[in-house]
Amino acid sequence: MSDATRTTGRPTALVTGASAGIGRALAEQFARHGHDVALVARREGTLEDIAAEFERRYGITAHVLAMDLAEPDAPAELHAEIDGRGIRVDVLVNNVGIGTQGTFTEIPTERDLDQLRLNAVVPTHLTKLFGRKMVERGEGKILNVSSTAAFQPGPLMAVYYASKAYSLSLSEALTEELRDEGVTVTALCPGPVRTEFQERAEMTDTPLGSGRMQSPEAVARAGYEGLMAGEAVVIPSPQYRLLALLTKLTPRSVARTLAKRINASR
Ligand SMILES: NC(=O)c1ccc[n+]([C@@H]2O[C@H](COP(=O)([O-])OP(=O)(O)OC[C@H]3O[C@@H](n4cnc5c(N)ncnc54)[C@H](OP(=O)(O)O)[C@@H]3O)[C@@H](O)[C@H]2O)c1
Repeated sequence: MSDATRTTGRPTALVTGASAGIGRALAEQFARHGHDVALVARREGTLEDIAAEFERRYGITAHVLAMDLAEPDAPAELHAEIDGRGIRVDVLVNNVGIGTQGTFTEIPTERDLDQLRLNAVVPTHLTKLFGRKMVERGEGKILNVSSTAAFQPGPLMAVYYASKAYSLSLSEALTEELRDEGVTVTALCPGPVRTEFQERAEMTDTPLGSGRMQSPEAVARAGYEGLMAGEAVVIPSPQYRLLALLTKLTPRSVARTLAKRINASR
C-alpha cells in the first residue's frame, strides 16, 4: 500500500480532464462515494478550486496534477509524479478528449494529431503504466470515456469518430484480456453531453452540436455505476441504447451518410 492509501484508507481514482464537463462530474461521483481523487488537466486554478470543494463537501483527499497531456512525455511524467507522491491508483479514468469538426483536409494537421494523442495515445499509454500495476496487485478498475461516435464512421468529424472507435475497441479487448487478472475495463459511450466540448470542437452550428444533450452529471452517474458493476460497455440513457442498436442494424453506407448530415455546419 502507498503512503497515501495507508494514511487515508480510501481507494484513489485518477481522472484525466477533470477540470470540466464529464471528467469533473466523474471525479465528483468517486469523491461522493468515498474515493480520494487525483485530478488532471491544464487549468491549475480550476483544479485547485474543485479539489477544495470536494475535500470540504465529501471529506476525502483530492490531489491536483496540472499538466498538458498533449505533450509527448506527459503520460510518463504523470505516472512518475503519482509514484513520487506515494499515491496508489485503484481506478484509472481515461476521460480526456477533444473533437475537431470540418473537412478532413482543411482541419490543421496539428489539431488532429493532438486529438489523436489525447483521445487514443494518452489513454493507451496511461493504461499500460497503471494497468500493469493493477495486474501485479490483482485488482483495479479502468474506465475509458468513448462515445456513441464509436459505432459508425463520422464524416466531417472523421478523426474524432475514428479515435472513439479505437477507444471502444481497445477497451472491449482489454475487458477480455484482464478479466482473469482481477482488473475490470469499462467503456462509457455517451451521446451528446452539454459541456465545453462543443465550443472547443467548433461544432455549435451543427445539428449534433446544438441539439438535445444529456447533463454531465447523469452521464457520470451511469458511468460510475457501470464501472462498479463491472460492465464492459455503458451507454447512458435508453434513447441512446436504442439508437446504438439501430445503428448496428443499419447498413454502414446509410449510417455514415446520416452522420455526415448531423456533423455538417448549417
Ligand atoms: N460532450 C460530449 O458531447 C461528449 C459525448 C461523448 C463523449 N465525450 C467524451 O467525453 C470526454 C470528456 O469530454 P467533455 O465533453 O467533458 O469535454 P470538456 O468539457 O471540453 O472537458 C475536457 C477536459 O479535458 C481537459 N483537457 C483538454 N485538453 C487537455 C490537454 N491538452 N491536457 C490536459 N487536459 C486537457 C480540459 O481541461 P483543461 O482545459 O483545464 O486542460 C477538460 O477538463 C472526452 O473524451 C469526449 O470525447 C463527450
